[in-house]
Amino acid sequence: MGDAWPFESRADLSPADYLAWVGARVFAVFDASTQDSGNVSFGVEAAGRRWFLKSAGHPADPAPHLDHPARVALLANAARLAGSLEHPALPRLRGEPASAWGPLLAYDWAPGELLHAPAARRADPASAHQRFRSLPADEIAIALDTVIDVHVRLCALGWVACDFYDGAMIYDFVGRRLTLVDLDTYRQGPFVNEMGRMFGSTRFMAPEEFRKDAVIDERTTVFTLGRTISNFLGDGTLDAAAFRGADAQLAAMLGACRPAPDERFQSVAELAAAWRR
Ligand SMILES: Nc1ncnc2c1ncn2[C@@H]1O[C@H](COP(=O)(O)OP(=O)(O)O)[C@@H](O)[C@H]1O
Ligand SMILES: [Mg+2]
Repeated sequence: MGDAWPFESRADLSPADYLAWVGARVFAVFDASTQDSGNVSFGVEAAGRRWFLKSAGHPADPAPHLDHPARVALLANAARLAGSLEHPALPRLRGEPASAWGPLLAYDWAPGELLHAPAARRADPASAHQRFRSLPADEIAIALDTVIDVHVRLCALGWVACDFYDGAMIYDFVGRRLTLVDLDTYRQGPFVNEMGRMFGSTRFMAPEEFRKDAVIDERTTVFTLGRTISNFLGDGTLDAAAFRGADAQLAAMLGACRPAPDERFQSVAELAAAWRR
């Protein structure tokens, strides 16, 4: 870990000018060419280490679904979440220097590969998605246990998962470590679905996330975690024959993915207990 904090605020500079001014080496850019969030983020090297710097993107960019103040508000929400829980699988948020595009969230860089593949490449054996699915079941289960553990802790703090999918999972195939990123839209406390079909990947979403006026709560998170288990230890369905994990893990998936919230595990802690039985 470098000793110096390299990111002083410069509210007059755009992130690119800012990073040049700081003397950071930019080795990755995540912008409209890969993201539809409107956010523009950077992988940079500074003070002898790697960082992930996330901005809300250009204030005048008219393309994103959310306007700039709404994107900045989501970053503030992400900062609140990061401040509420330290976990080895969550990149630490080290600071929030100001830029002309609003705050830059300065996280630790998470090594590894994103487990999301667009639908057209999801079956490609060379994709990180399929390489992860092809690992020994024990190794997948250890990574999924990490996903469950983070959510046990987040739910204990009142955070309800929103828009969680494999695009939030980074796996280091060498170090065998899973990191979760982009939990920016998680919300504290149950809330009412005011959208109808909410944002998210269908493969991970609960029935209530498609139903206007339905309650979204911890049991919704339970379902999403059940779908996560199904997508990585199973074939994306509840088919027991396709499931590669242990019996307890199969039972955990089935108990998490019941359509009616009342019939699921009522908490992520209950799901975790069944999963580890
Ligand atoms: N801490 C991190 N370390 C390394 N890469 C990261 C980190 N956080 C996110 N990423 C990568 O950057 C991409 C964009 O970040 P994300 O938080 O998903 O932004 P957006 O809000 O635009 O979806 C992710 O898909 C992932 O590949
Ligand atoms: Mg994202």
